[in-house]
Amino acid sequence: MHRIAVLTSGGDAPGMNAAVRSVVRTGLYKNWEIYGVQSGYDGLLAGKLSMLGAREVGGIIQRGGTILGSARCPEFTTENGQHKALRILNQFGIEGLIVIGGNGSQKGAYAMHRHGFPVIGISSTIDNDLYGVDITIGVDTALNIAIEAIDRLKITASSHQRAFLLEVMGRNCGYLALMSALAGGAEAAVLPEFEIKPEEIADIIREAYQKGKAHAIVVVAEGAKYNAGKLNEYFIEHQERIGFKFRTTILGHVQRGGAPGAFDPY
Ligand code: ADP
Ligand code: F6P
Repeated sequence: MHRIAVLTSGGDAPGMNAAVRSVVRTGLYKNWEIYGVQSGYDGLLAGKLSMLGAREVGGIIQRGGTILGSARCPEFTTENGQHKALRILNQFGIEGLIVIGGNGSQKGAYAMHRHGFPVIGISSTIDNDLYGVDITIGVDTALNIAIEAIDRLKITASSHQRAFLLEVMGRNCGYLALMSALAGGAEAAVLPEFEIKPEEIADIIREAYQKGKAHAIVVVAEGAKYNAGKLNEYFIEHQERIGFKFRTTILGHVQRGGAPGAFDPY
């Protein structure tokens, strides 16, 4: 009989629950014991582990968020924190750890590997910024939400002949902003990876206005040098020259089907 622990860590992402369910059901099928860790590495250091059965992961495959809870845990980035985690895993007789999370969480998984502990990383983040993975769990849903927001913003933008700045998450990665801008037919995408000056964006928008467009959308990645707040200031100041009036929408932390009555083993 093997005993495995699973945790979700860092920014939550749609699909984490499906991954948890899959780990638990697969483990049980193999006759292993599966322990769920509450709140990522934070819960691990606090010894918050409890056994998960097939029923605890029932009805969660479609839910956003994570029934295990997620957290950020500065202590775990230290050698002392990692040794403490190893001690706790040993106390519970855990032989392997499965880490569902983004690039920070996977750095943590790698740290456990370096300490000789068996670990598997499941890449799950709306940022899609993990090396070696084409697409992470969660980014497709986030992209669809961003595109839906663009479609909706265009409706009101057209009624008022306005331009909208839409800021999306992604931390230092522009994937979500670039893909949603392309799929949503935006005038411009402002990304962390490629610096573009406010006056260059203003030129693009002015051109759209002069062509008689009823709306203009600029998608801005939150990690870009000129984020939506800074661009908004610039565009308000130069509104006469640009033509369109601007509004800003910041899209973040929006998930579908959260987990009311989430599994709480304590
Ligand atoms: P995400 O996994 O979504 O990228 P974070 O970057 O916030 O989220 O990382 C989540 C957690 O992973 C951190 O709070 C920390 O506990 C752990 N972590 C991040 N970087 C490291 C690292 N270099 N070494 C060990 N653990 C790390
Ligand atoms: O890394 C995932 C992520 O959702 C990023 O896109 C975003 O910058 C961050 O987490 C948000 O985290 P918080 O709500 O803790 O600021």
